[in-house]
Amino acid sequence: MAGRIPSEFIDHLLARTDIVALIGSRLTLRKAGRNYQARCPFHDEKTPSFSVSPEKQFYHCFGCGAHGTAIGFLMEYNRLSFREAIEELAARAGVEIPLDDEAMSALPDVSPLLQLLEQANDCYRQQLRQHSTAQFAVNYLKQRGLTGAIAAHYQLGFAPPTGDFILSQLGKTAVERDRLLACGLLAERDGQRYDRFRNRILFPIRNRRGRVIGFGGRALGETKPKYLNSPETPVFHKGRELYGWFEAQQANRQLNTLLIVEGYLDVIALAQFGITNVVATLGTATTSEHLQLLRTVPELIFCFDGDRAGRAAAWKALEIALPLMTGQQTLRFLFLPEGDDPDTLIRREGADGLTARLAQASPLSTFLFAHLQTQVKEITSSDGRARLATLAKPLIDKVPSDVYRDLLTQELAEMVKSPRIASTAVAKKSDRQGSLSQKRIQKELRPTLIAQTIALLLANPELAAVAKQSAADWQRLPNSGVDILVELLNTLFLQPELTTAMLLERWREHPHFEYLQRLSVHPFLQDLANADVATEFRDGLQRLSDEVRKAEQFEPFH
Ligand code: UTP
Ligand code: MN
Repeated sequence: MAGRIPSEFIDHLLARTDIVALIGSRLTLRKAGRNYQARCPFHDEKTPSFSVSPEKQFYHCFGCGAHGTAIGFLMEYNRLSFREAIEELAARAGVEIPLDDEAMSALPDVSPLLQLLEQANDCYRQQLRQHSTAQFAVNYLKQRGLTGAIAAHYQLGFAPPTGDFILSQLGKTAVERDRLLACGLLAERDGQRYDRFRNRILFPIRNRRGRVIGFGGRALGETKPKYLNSPETPVFHKGRELYGWFEAQQANRQLNTLLIVEGYLDVIALAQFGITNVVATLGTATTSEHLQLLRTVPELIFCFDGDRAGRAAAWKALEIALPLMTGQQTLRFLFLPEGDDPDTLIRREGADGLTARLAQASPLSTFLFAHLQTQVKEITSSDGRARLATLAKPLIDKVPSDVYRDLLTQELAEMVKSPRIASTAVAKKSDRQGSLSQKRIQKELRPTLIAQTIALLLANPELAAVAKQSAADWQRLPNSGVDILVELLNTLFLQPELTTAMLLERWREHPHFEYLQRLSVHPFLQDLANADVATEFRDGLQRLSDEVRKAEQFEPFH
């Protein structure tokens, strides 16, 4: 995203927005102390753990960890882009979006590109029905077993072999041709622009709101590459999109299980057989952004080929997933027989055959330990079992959910027949029961002192006044957290009335934005709900300053 949006404008917008009213117009909120509560819209739950703070203008779910400002809420809940969320809030608040050049270029408008992609999609679909050469394409699809109905449902199209079809249809002006290039429909070589997709069956890729953002194009015969996909463009980022996600959501009011497959045609073939809860990654490995997108689906099943490449891809997905295991979602892995993909399998075994296999898909833990066992070869000897434990431990430690981590640890203990691993897990677990030990884990998980200090300030911007009267030696600490704290304080010295939300929105473009949002609702802050936050904050700055002085005593030439 180019440039920054003037923060005064965001402040103004957030000042005119009440997050409680905004979220209250979409969910049923109940007052609970100073905050409001609801059942979390981002995960399935019976008792409310979603909390909205009118003071901070921030929401946070204690169950799944979702959090954000009013802008973030609209982006997540209504699946809006940043620009659209701003437009929605501006419309609600009756605020004009500043129209000067600087502000507009900071809010990139991708709608002309989306419009063009939509038009291109219409042209390509029409070609599949009309163009004389399209007969080959139609025959190919028939021979692959696709019905006309399913091809229409997924809006399949055909790009004719000429190099200037889309160019001549939609590229009449120079501006249009530039846009066609920007959205990946044209390619450029030696200053020549020509249609990227030629003589291919086209699969439009739609975003979560059903807008066409790119295409996958399959060759009709043995032409290489077999699939040609849209390049990365301002509207298409393949690591963040999933093929079929829009259609799967349309077909299922509530998605309890979602299958993740590898190919466009796998999604379509399964849908043809009535299995509509399927998405495909777009010729990339599963990313954590994909998993983030799917975090509200209770169960994900990855389908991979049974061959070596399939196993390697599955292991990669597992490694990506471990740090995201909050205990709210089940992951399973299905390995297909060698040489099969979901498309060939369902055509041979039918929906029942695939469903039966899905029921047998391995839980994450089974795949984890099975894979590690193949690496250590045997676990009949103590050596083998020790190697297994050594390989498994750092992976298990990545899991953020206490309960799930303990379960994995116990499973490992049983496998390596080591009561020690189990007993430490069990001891930790019993530690975690009861309210006294609840405090203990929170202390265990406390962030570093500088991060705690930042968290206190984010959650209580009025503390900036305290910093003015406190020790300032901490500013000499060589730590990136210090730079953040200084910047936050400087902002607040100038504008002491900023809310947590306004403060955070200033960091949206910063690599640490997510981290700062999480810090502002870190569990250790709950411990302090009734304690004197000002004292805590002053002590933090004092201790950091003491550290600096202590270090400097040993550096006479500082
Ligand atoms: P596959 O090679 O498994 O193809 O690629 P497929 O989906 O089974 O297609 P058919 O059945 O042979 O027609 C899986 C996915 O990997 C990406 C595509 O997204 C494809 O759907 N891919 C594959 C590419 O991006 N480029 C390629 O050249 C091949
Ligand atoms: Mn295939």
